[in-house]
Amino acid sequence: MKEGRVSILIIEDSPTDITIITRQLAKYGFDLDFATSGEDALKSLQEKKYDMVVTDYSMPGMTGLDVLDRMKKEGYDMPTVIMTGAGSERLAVEAMKKGACDYLIKSTDPGWLEVFPSVIQSNIEKYRLVKERRKIEEEKKQLAMRLQQAQKMESIGTLAGGIAHDFNNLLMGIMGHISLMLLRTDSDPQLFEHLKAIEDIVQKGSDLTKQLLGFARGGKYEVKLTDLNGLIEKTLELFGRTKKEMRIHSKYQKGIWPVEVDRGQIEQVLLNLYVNAWEATPGGGEFFVETSNVVLDKNYIKPFAVRPGHYVKISVTDTGVGMDKATQKRIFEPFFTTKEMGRGAGLGLASAYGIIKNHGGMINVYSEIGHGTTFNVYLPASEKDATVFEEHKVAEEILKGTETVLIVDDEAIVLDVCKDMLTEIGYKVLVARSGREAVEIYGKQKEEIDLVILDMIMPDMGGGEAYDRIKEMHPKAKVLLSSGYSIDGEASEILARGCNGFIQKPFNIKELYEKIRALLQK
Ligand SMILES: Nc1ncnc2c1ncn2[C@@H]1O[C@H](COP(=O)(O)OP(=O)(O)OP(=O)(O)O)[C@@H](O)[C@H]1O
Ligand SMILES: [Mg+2]
Repeated sequence: MKEGRVSILIIEDSPTDITIITRQLAKYGFDLDFATSGEDALKSLQEKKYDMVVTDYSMPGMTGLDVLDRMKKEGYDMPTVIMTGAGSERLAVEAMKKGACDYLIKSTDPGWLEVFPSVIQSNIEKYRLVKERRKIEEEKKQLAMRLQQAQKMESIGTLAGGIAHDFNNLLMGIMGHISLMLLRTDSDPQLFEHLKAIEDIVQKGSDLTKQLLGFARGGKYEVKLTDLNGLIEKTLELFGRTKKEMRIHSKYQKGIWPVEVDRGQIEQVLLNLYVNAWEATPGGGEFFVETSNVVLDKNYIKPFAVRPGHYVKISVTDTGVGMDKATQKRIFEPFFTTKEMGRGAGLGLASAYGIIKNHGGMINVYSEIGHGTTFNVYLPASEKDATVFEEHKVAEEILKGTETVLIVDDEAIVLDVCKDMLTEIGYKVLVARSGREAVEIYGKQKEEIDLVILDMIMPDMGGGEAYDRIKEMHPKAKVLLSSGYSIDGEASEILARGCNGFIQKPFNIKELYEKIRALLQK
């Protein structure tokens, strides 16, 4: 129960009754206030919070029933007892129907006064129990809703991941053939233009599957110790260059804690948030990005499945159109969009959600219609000391390779085009159609093979097992994982076991070349 004394408002117009009630209740330590009319009582209710109201029935002006009506209408929620004169039980019943919790029948016999204190106490206790039960019910409902939401996200995730995987293999085939054709179109500028256009379209398709993958918890592939301030600055620069009408303000925490993240994925999250902010502020507006170190305690994180501890917080705020509560509830669902057909796919926030969750972090939103929106992203801080944040360098142009590469993939479309791409850039190529075949070939020719490009999901023996077998034969073997998607984060496990690199399908010749060079030079 609430601290302090029980406060009761008694509505009674008879001075005699006020005196005898006061005397009767004196030794119970209640905090008593009196109002002599319904109107007075309503004023008192506005000024002070009462635990209980006891009202006489017959008063000049408003009756006790009128008071009950008004209290209900104005949303007062506290136990209310009605006192009626002897012989008016019918009225008492009516009062109960209107929401009174109990009644007292006044009579000349002082017995009615004796039950007064216990009526007060028992009703306050009853009310407290009802409230407690309501709270528990409410919590149960919330929990069930959250569980249902989580299950829904999980199953859509599986579906989305499967689609993305198959599509990436198809796109890989198209992308690969186009990049090969592009190398041979010098004599025909028109053909070149068409191919470039197709390549752009494939790139768009690949961006879509990338969003789907982000949502579907495709695993963090290339986790690196990262300074988020630096990463944000880079993305803001890129964004600011294309969206000149946004006034961008940034505020970075000094001495920001390092985080271990897949930079490409976090960039994707940031850009999604920026683009949404831009789309929410037609004609341009203010746009704020802020970072801070925060410690989240048990209470704060309760609704999210994350651990208490040290986090880096990124806030992205716009002064745009904002969202109502119904929209806010659904924004993280894949394919939920309020944008017109062809504008938004509804994947930006779904992928942001998946990626952040997959990093052990959380994302939430505050928004008000007409005022703007803030997204907060929390990423767990790393224990590692980050004095140097390693940067990733890429080769400028394609030089010819000379080494021997074993490429392993169960999809003929992928295998064939990758073979041609590798040959094109000078590598000697061996192919395997399964993990088992790869292990066999590697066993026979390990002296010659400089690099293995290994698909993740294959029937008979998957990429994970093939990787382990190859490493057993030759601990220094260089392996580049390639995947359209790995649903169980298997790729990240293999990378954690020391695998050298990862390339996301679909990729073009240049991306392939850069990955291989970076690996072979290590
Ligand atoms: N900053 C924002 N201000 C107002 N509404 C927003 C904001 N960010 C997201 N929303 C709402 O959330 C919806 C979902 O956003 P999400 O980024 O997932 O998809 P989208 O932007 O519609 O499409 P896509 O990102 O795939 O191009 C949006 O359609 C919009 O209604
Ligand atoms: Mg979006």
